[in-house]
Amino acid sequence: MGTGRLLSAEYFDEWYSAMVGSPVKDEIVRRHLGLPAHLLSTSLLSWEAVGEVAAALRLSAGHVLVDLACGRGGYGLEVAHRSGADLVGVDFSAEAVRQAREYAERLGRVARFQVGELTATGLADASVDAVMCIDAVQFVESADAVYREIRRVLAPAGRVVLTCWEPVDRGDDRVPDRLRSVDLYAGLNRAGFADVVVDERPGWQAVEDALWQEAVALDPGADPALRALHDEGVRVLEFSHRIRRVIAAATAS
Ligand SMILES: C[S@@+](CC[C@H](N)C(=O)[O-])C[C@H]1O[C@@H](n2cnc3c(N)ncnc32)[C@H](O)[C@@H]1O
Repeated sequence: MGTGRLLSAEYFDEWYSAMVGSPVKDEIVRRHLGLPAHLLSTSLLSWEAVGEVAAALRLSAGHVLVDLACGRGGYGLEVAHRSGADLVGVDFSAEAVRQAREYAERLGRVARFQVGELTATGLADASVDAVMCIDAVQFVESADAVYREIRRVLAPAGRVVLTCWEPVDRGDDRVPDRLRSVDLYAGLNRAGFADVVVDERPGWQAVEDALWQEAVALDPGADPALRALHDEGVRVLEFSHRIRRVIAAATAS
């Protein structure tokens, strides 16, 4: 594509538009992840995992938190609310950003959502205190450009937390390329971060597998969001035992 994107913004616009008419898809995801009824997720972060992300960000009231590739903004709004931080959500899908703004208003939360790239957020140098990036760094050709962008926008001592999946074996071509190339430890170190810690979370993965099992067993009928969930489940279960769930945290030195 030449832009470094592996999927287009238009692809995600359509994906988000389909979700508006599918409360069933959200109900299934929330039930498996243990999320409260108000929380809109388009990834696989459980309620317990949200707590872990929030703790690792070490936020205080008044800090500026960026939710990078925020989708509908559910996780960023939750983490910011817990700490009293100011939230800026960035996503390249204009439809996701539109839904995130609507959703924040419904919750009565003040937050800024803007269109931007994983590799070009549009934010000023050293202007934020923390960045979270949930299940999204695999969507660019080279995640190094994402780590560099995060490093650029973070103020000294700022924190970053990312969640993703990595291959159990980097040489295993049965793992899709976009996950096979994810290496959070090496990438964050190359970008100049300090205190890089990457931990495996097999418990999260067990929850995800149960979600996918339900998704593949259901008949999506004419619901496009359920169809997308079903089809993704079919694809993911083919290689889910070949990847490991990870959370990474680091400090901008
Ligand atoms: C799996 S969703 C996760 C959304 C959100 N972080 C969550 O956990 O609910 C991946 C997100 O990455 C966004 N995305 C993918 N490629 C991107 C890019 N190149 N720049 C900005 N956002 C991107 C998509 O629009 C989508 O919202």
